[in-house]
Amino acid sequence: MHHVIRRAVRTAALLCFIATAPAHADGTLKLEAPKPNVAPTPPMGWNSWNKFDCNVSEQMIRQQADAMAASGMKDAGYRYIVIDDCWQKSRDADGNIQADPERFPSGIKALADYVHAKGLKFGLYSDAGVLTCAGRPGSAGREFQDASQYAKWGVDFLKYDWCNTGTRNAEAAYTLMAKALRESGRDIVFSICEWGTDHPERWGPTVGHLWRTTHDIYDGWESTKDKGNGMTNILDMQAARGGVSAPNAWNDPDMLEVGNGGMTTTEYESHFSLWAMLAAPLVAGNDLSKMDADTVRILTNKDVIAVDQDPLGQQGRRALKEGDLEVWVRPLQGGEFAAVLFNRGKTPADMTLKWDRLGLPGDRKADVKDLWSKKVTKGVRGSYGSKVAPHGVTMVRIKAAP
Ligand code: GLA
Repeated sequence: MHHVIRRAVRTAALLCFIATAPAHADGTLKLEAPKPNVAPTPPMGWNSWNKFDCNVSEQMIRQQADAMAASGMKDAGYRYIVIDDCWQKSRDADGNIQADPERFPSGIKALADYVHAKGLKFGLYSDAGVLTCAGRPGSAGREFQDASQYAKWGVDFLKYDWCNTGTRNAEAAYTLMAKALRESGRDIVFSICEWGTDHPERWGPTVGHLWRTTHDIYDGWESTKDKGNGMTNILDMQAARGGVSAPNAWNDPDMLEVGNGGMTTTEYESHFSLWAMLAAPLVAGNDLSKMDADTVRILTNKDVIAVDQDPLGQQGRRALKEGDLEVWVRPLQGGEFAAVLFNRGKTPADMTLKWDRLGLPGDRKADVKDLWSKKVTKGVRGSYGSKVAPHGVTMVRIKAAP
């Protein structure tokens, strides 16, 4: 008798498990088409959200594309112009997604053509829920229709958000959109924006090209009570998660705030350097049409960008933390290294990078280039020392003798 009851309970539990097994929430979906090779290095571009919020229009987007081409950003490697939330307004009688006709009177295709004519690439935003985070129509249940529309418009990049998704399983929902994009007839970068909630580092590499690891960044050094995550908090969350990156599979600690005014020039240099150490997508979030000289200098620092874009694609890590002082290291292609000495404190600090942090023998000679001052020191042995400004970094590239 007990046996029978136990078996019945077990059977019920099994049925229950099958009915709710999350990985199968959208059926047994398989990604047959391979992931297009469109992000062999972390994508570089610009996105409207950090600066413009919902206030997007075709005129503003054209201005940003003009500025990207004219300011030196394009020459430095930035390519994608991405419209975040609020470009969409409704669906027509056939369910086709419609841009806001007042803000985008010429339509999305014309805007994509304009961006492409500048030698740049064009991106859009949608959401796996019925509504986006700002309450615009999302793509739930319309994945294939939307993906085919994006392909017709000439979209090269899709950021896909996670608001209003109810009980949807993240992996299944993102896999469905990945399948739709891969079958759309156009190679599209797939940017997963699920805030690191359901371990996107496990399934993201198969499904998309980059995946957010945290909730939103805000333009400040550290979190305050009423604001979101400051730059250093995002950094700590990313350091704690570790995470493996590789070509076409990047951890995304959120977009850049450089030039938005909430941090000092020194703090923005730290932000940019550390994002490069993380092999993060470099997506500017400021007004490109109104940049001061420091903002341009930071965002177009070719040596720092070269670290971010290193073809090996191996994310850096925090090798040492002693109070406010941190050492970050990153192996680069060809046996070189990048390192950051980061001073989170309020006073200048004398810091040292020891060769053993890089796995180099202490007596090995190396050439060291400071990537901000551009100073090169040849034949350095054992360690490299630097006075690091409060909230600042010294970032170096190290080439050891063979
Ligand atoms: C979420 C995302 C942001 C941005 C907004 C738009 O918060 O994480 O990056 O896309 O939605 O509403």
